[in-house]
Amino acid sequence: MVSETETQSDSLNRALEANRELWDAWTQAHVKSDFYDVEGFKRGACTLPDIEIKEVGDVAGKSLLHLQCHFGLDTLSWARRGADVVGMDFCGRAISQAMQLAEELALSARFVCCELSELPSNLTGQFDIVFTSAGVKAWLPDLTVWARVIAHFLKPGGMFYIREFHPIAGVLDDEQTPECPPRLRYPYFHSKEPMQYEGDGSYAASDVQKDRPHHKWCEWTHSMGEILTSLIEAGLRVEFLHEFDYCTYQSHPFLVRGADGFWRYEKAPETLPLMFSLKAIRPSKQQ
Ligand SMILES: C[S@@+](CC[C@H](N)C(=O)[O-])C[C@H]1O[C@@H](n2cnc3c(N)ncnc32)[C@H](O)[C@@H]1O
Repeated sequence: MVSETETQSDSLNRALEANRELWDAWTQAHVKSDFYDVEGFKRGACTLPDIEIKEVGDVAGKSLLHLQCHFGLDTLSWARRGADVVGMDFCGRAISQAMQLAEELALSARFVCCELSELPSNLTGQFDIVFTSAGVKAWLPDLTVWARVIAHFLKPGGMFYIREFHPIAGVLDDEQTPECPPRLRYPYFHSKEPMQYEGDGSYAASDVQKDRPHHKWCEWTHSMGEILTSLIEAGLRVEFLHEFDYCTYQSHPFLVRGADGFWRYEKAPETLPLMFSLKAIRPSKQQ
């Protein structure tokens, strides 16, 4: 008889495999997209938003591990700022592209291809900074595992930094008409059962893959309490949690672009948290 645990791990593996296939197809389209503007990056543009540069601080001479690095533009932007970088992602196509870019631009960087939970078996060493950003948590089934991986790779005294879409933004309908006020559509609290999605385009490219355009994938919701508690239980000390009323792209139809290029819900006095950033430290033994 098949045990319940085997069935759960089979269905988790199937979900992760579907997501990997999705990211393979999306990566191919993203590399050519205006959203990622690879040509601009090659000419020297930095893909890191100012808020990350300010909040992470000076990285020159520091070791930096970038979790879920996609095809490496942010990883290589940190390398251009003087960090000794390692990027990781489970998408083979993204990692090959990242390595190719690093070579073409003569930037020193290492890249590892594996599922996040398997990183401790695929990479050795500890880092001054573990960094991750913009669209990472929804792909992870279990934040307890995520937080342990982060703690595992941080040196004592090292810093974890994340800038991410706010869990509150994640519950709002992203397909309504622009005139319609924000309305609830998705769950806020985590469930082991992923939400199933299907569609033709990605956030960065509407035309993903002409010969096989339709994809199915899985996402998991994680509440703000879960994010914070997973990091605290892994032994990290949270230094700040900043919430922002803007998003770096039009995540929802009702957002309007401001003069600063960011997208907001502009129906004052109503406001919405759309992104957050968090910094946490792995305490040194004596602290
Ligand atoms: C939205 S992207 C991160 C975006 C990045 N900040 C950027 O803008 O380029 C999410 C990344 O997570 C990776 N990913 C998704 N699930 C993963 C998993 N379980 N383990 C490792 N990487 C994963 C995907 O391949 C993708 O490259």
